Amino acid sequence: MNWEDIDWKALERLRAAFLQGTAGHADYWRSEHELAGYDATFAQRIGWKWDYVLAELTRRGWTPPPGELLDWGCGSGIAGRAFLDHFGVKSVGGLNLWDRSALAMRFAGERAAAKYPGLSVAMGLPAEPGILLISHVLTELKPEQAQQLADFAATASAVLWVEPGTYEASLALIAVRERLRTKLNVVAPCTHAAACGILAPGNEPHWCHHFAKPPPEIFIDGDWARFANFLGIDLGTLPVSFLVLDRRPAPAVPPGTVRVIGGPRMSKPEARLLACDASGVAQRHLARRTFPEEYRLLKKGRCDPLQVWECNRDAITSVRKFGGGAGE
Ligand SMILES: C[S@@+](CC[C@H](N)C(=O)[O-])C[C@H]1O[C@@H](n2cnc3c(N)ncnc32)[C@H](O)[C@@H]1O
Repeated sequence: MNWEDIDWKALERLRAAFLQGTAGHADYWRSEHELAGYDATFAQRIGWKWDYVLAELTRRGWTPPPGELLDWGCGSGIAGRAFLDHFGVKSVGGLNLWDRSALAMRFAGERAAAKYPGLSVAMGLPAEPGILLISHVLTELKPEQAQQLADFAATASAVLWVEPGTYEASLALIAVRERLRTKLNVVAPCTHAAACGILAPGNEPHWCHHFAKPPPEIFIDGDWARFANFLGIDLGTLPVSFLVLDRRPAPAVPPGTVRVIGGPRMSKPEARLLACDASGVAQRHLARRTFPEEYRLLKKGRCDPLQVWECNRDAITSVRKFGGGAGE
């Protein structure tokens, strides 16, 4: 879409509904033009979150199971396209699109058909979800609808669920994880299938979120600057919460693998990192003197979310790069 044609007022209205939590009340898509504006802006940012999640899945050695893709609550269809761009059109038997908005399904279907000639694209809910993609819908569902969706997800061969990295969305996604972790295998972001450590007493201030990176060129792009100014959005921050489950066993991770949650807290002598593994979620300390290079990278904002550590109580004593696979 030509950015000159964007209906900024419509984007403002959508953003207000998303932020105020009123988006779930009724179908808000008014026109194809509005969907195109969303697709060029908000959806691109969501697509970068998907790119982050999909890159992590590849790093972990995960590949899609055979079957069709279902993009549930597809909106303009960015989740399906991000998946197909990452794994290739041949990785799936077809694309199914579902949304309460017929307009959105049609828009997403047309975009997918134009981008992937030959791909079978259908609208509606198939009897079996296959590979289920869910993106930025939880905040629009009532608790009982979210439970129904989680139960539907339990019948999928794999579930890739991406939400904003807010406290509320993260906790809602953790509730889904707890509901499903005995039915499907937990692939990511966790390194284990035990109960979520965020729910342990004392961890109430924390939530499971991570930071995706937008492409650097947007910071010198006048259109994106206008988008940021008009809507009051910080382009550099892309917090994301996500959950990936699979009917097949999850690819094994090397012993000592931790998932770093959120960003590090830096002080002069050390970095404090909130880390998750099967033993729970806990603050660990990385001493600058012992790990000058790791500390320097953290200070520059480069925090690898998957690392292999040894610890002595809360002190990190060894850091290795996560390469995926138990035999690393
Ligand atoms: C914020 S948009 C996200 C769209 C898309 N998944 C994305 O990530 O860009 C939420 C979408 O969920 C749809 N939706 C909300 N409630 C729904 C429901 N109960 N059943 C199906 N779709 C729903 C909306 O129509 C909208 O397209």
